[in-house]
Amino acid sequence: MNYRHAFHAGNFADVFKHAVLVRILLHLREKPAAFRVIDTHAGAGLYDLTGPEAERTGEWRQGIGRVRATPLAPAAASLLAPYLEVVAAFNPGGALARYPGSPLLVLRLMRSQDRLTACELEPSANAALKRALAADLRAKSVAIDGWVGLNAFLPPKERRGLVLIDPPFEQPDEFSRLAHAIVKAQRKWPTGIYMLWYPIKDRRAVTHFGRALAESGIPKILRAELSIGGGADDLGAAGLVLVNPPWRLAEEMETLLGPLARVLARGPGGGYGLDWLRGEN
Ligand SMILES: C[S@@+](CC[C@H](N)C(=O)[O-])C[C@H]1O[C@@H](n2cnc3c(N)ncnc32)[C@H](O)[C@@H]1O
Repeated sequence: MNYRHAFHAGNFADVFKHAVLVRILLHLREKPAAFRVIDTHAGAGLYDLTGPEAERTGEWRQGIGRVRATPLAPAAASLLAPYLEVVAAFNPGGALARYPGSPLLVLRLMRSQDRLTACELEPSANAALKRALAADLRAKSVAIDGWVGLNAFLPPKERRGLVLIDPPFEQPDEFSRLAHAIVKAQRKWPTGIYMLWYPIKDRRAVTHFGRALAESGIPKILRAELSIGGGADDLGAAGLVLVNPPWRLAEEMETLLGPLARVLARGPGGGYGLDWLRGEN
């Protein structure tokens, strides 16, 4: 395990993923019944944007840095506002110095009855995560393999909620592992919402992954991809797969993703795609 999210925290892919994550949490909050979030690859929780890792890549400047500084069209801005408010809450001085990862974004939007289970296997990231969760009784961080956790923690007793699967994609077989894992998980907990993140580097692998999901028997799957264009070698596009997305999420993403992609674009070829792999069409 070499991956360290501190190098990438707050980059365009985090903004894309976390903006959608926050929209899902807001939908979950619409009903009073408790929900559970299971974050299978949770990361360290809180990232120092002034630290050596973030400074070395400067990726956050082209991600959350830009999005905070650039006004969006009103409809998109109001959909993005709750995410930006959580980021602002971690930066009380106003200047952007810290970035909350998925478990902290979730915790901020949870109510007293909701629960978070966050898996993180890498020891130093797990220790940091424990500190970041600050002994909040609604959250539990576990030093467990997220793929094992996925099987162990489903179905949760709350019976409603979200599973976020955000692996580091260090292994060559990560796409097929992800496809198998989501099929198994969805069988164990068919009504849960699932959000899967993937990098778009190898288009053939991504196409194959989409086809495998479309043929998996899972009835409702929405796919969103966002590209920042440009010709650089590093990551320039990422995707999200959403199983059982909340009602109205697709419509919200249609409003949000175009303006977001324009702000995040680093060159020609930027944009977004949104389509149903199964259902809704
Ligand atoms: C992309 S980062 C997670 C970012 C986080 N979900 C967020 O949005 O802020 C992936 C994380 O998975 C951890 N990891 C790698 N292999 C793992 C495994 N088998 N089980 C759980 N965590 C793992 C890495 O240490 C890393 O912190």
